[in-house]
Amino acid sequence: MAQLIGGLGASHVPSIGAALDKGLRETPDWKPFFDGTVPGRAWCEANRPDVAVVIFNDHGNAFFLDKVPTFAIGCAEEYRPIDEGWGPRAIPVFAGHAAFGWHLVDRLVESHFDPMIVQEIEVDHGLQVPMELFFGRPETAWPVKIVPIFVNVIQYPIPLPARCYQLGRALRQAIDSFDSDERFVVIGTGGLSHQLQGSRAGFTNAEADRAFLADIAADPDRLAAMSREDYVRLFGSEGAELMMWLVMRGAMDREVEVRHTHYHLPASMTGAGMIVLENRAA
Ligand code: DHB
Ligand code: FE
Repeated sequence: MAQLIGGLGASHVPSIGAALDKGLRETPDWKPFFDGTVPGRAWCEANRPDVAVVIFNDHGNAFFLDKVPTFAIGCAEEYRPIDEGWGPRAIPVFAGHAAFGWHLVDRLVESHFDPMIVQEIEVDHGLQVPMELFFGRPETAWPVKIVPIFVNVIQYPIPLPARCYQLGRALRQAIDSFDSDERFVVIGTGGLSHQLQGSRAGFTNAEADRAFLADIAADPDRLAAMSREDYVRLFGSEGAELMMWLVMRGAMDREVEVRHTHYHLPASMTGAGMIVLENRAA
């Protein structure tokens, strides 16, 4: 059966990708952020996963407000990086794992989740940036196949944090029951605190971010029990993206080892974080 070897979390701020595009990695503004992500990438290089299930939100690039699925599963053979308005980026197309996508949808329906099924879509910075942080920038092909899980954290009503956590449990059952010897990682993306709009535009909360990074490993039940309003209040309206990390955490065992954690404020307007978790039993 397939094996889940790690749970990863990373922010997906678009200017991280833009900084790489412009060769700004070693500049004083960006070096502290990128240096802190090196161990996450090294973990992926050392542990060589075959498949990455990436939980992210589209930002009005592939879905717009006229059609917003609460949860959607990618069952495509490939996913092109979407052009968000600055032109095509020099990163390879993402190979999909359609067989696992279909298996996941099947297992989710059995678990009383009823996701949208997506067979053709382009993916935005929400997926691109964490992939670059964990796998670098390959010349021709990414080292993993991907299965995107799209979560609506944009158009209200957004799902409950507890529901995201349960989705992670169902995802784990799907990995455990997938007939293959592939090694999986699950990547939660988004956050940490940021608000890009309204009267609190520019809001960040380093204290809440650091508590989140600690508790996503040690006390995820606390984070899953919080309300959507708690997320918006503590992390900002766009900081509610953090509930997607609960999908990743729900897929992991209750007891985990933290292999790496990093926090940097700000990347653009956002508290930027990374975490690498392994199941303790492993
Ligand atoms: C920023 C952060 C995001 O999560 C996002 O989707 C877009 C922009 C930012 O901080 O600039
Ligand atoms: Fe975002």
